[in-house]
Amino acid sequence: MNILITAGPTREPIDPVRFLSNRSSGQMGYALAQAALNHHHHVTLISGPVSLPAPSGAQLIPVETARQMFDAVGTTINHCDIAIFAAAVADYRPVTPASQKLKKQSSPLSLHLEPTEDILGSARSLFNFHGYLVGFAAETENLVAHAQSKLDRKKCDLIIANDVSKPGIGFDSSENAVTLCFPNAEVHTLPKQSKQTLATVLFETILARATSLSPNPPCLKPNP
Ligand code: CTP
Repeated sequence: MNILITAGPTREPIDPVRFLSNRSSGQMGYALAQAALNHHHHVTLISGPVSLPAPSGAQLIPVETARQMFDAVGTTINHCDIAIFAAAVADYRPVTPASQKLKKQSSPLSLHLEPTEDILGSARSLFNFHGYLVGFAAETENLVAHAQSKLDRKKCDLIIANDVSKPGIGFDSSENAVTLCFPNAEVHTLPKQSKQTLATVLFETILARATSLSPNPPCLKPNP
């Protein structure tokens, strides 16, 4: 199968030497890419700037900004059967990046920001993607409620939610604990584990659902 994965942060330029970004390391997306490659699938990995080696065998499309990631997804998504959006895309960018380095002033500086493209939200509505669509949700409160709302709004088949307020998991960490939200209020939790192990479980779950081989692989036990 052809698998599209977005990973890493985006960088939104303020001036030639500064940008807005976030603490995403790209580890979750890269681990998912490796899990898909281990199953001998074709992987297109659209990645923001990270300090990870490209998984051998993946087609890597490096990008910097949300707009570049949006364009790369738009040109590749309809060649894919499964799209997994693990990137931490900046929600806002400076409207007009300065062409020269901003000089320090004694007065406060305001940045005028505009929303970036909602790439996951465009998958169905703009790109007309009909494959299996997976998004992530980084939340600090009301994890399941926010994730289910994202699932509905962005017409996903699965949202993988993680609580970014908890130390030691998620952003910029080698471990993660996630809650899977499927349509019809179906929810499963996966305990804290390495992102590599988690990626294998997640990819096998996604593959099983996408191909309808089995509603739940053995690794995914229903919540009591
Ligand atoms: N996402 C995206 N494009 C954006 C923002 C987010 O494709 N401009 C994707 C992320 O890759 C992730 C999902 O949308 O799969 C949810 O990202 P998140 O930041 O949690 O949600 P937002 O839609 O930005 O909503 P909010 O910040 O209000 O929680």
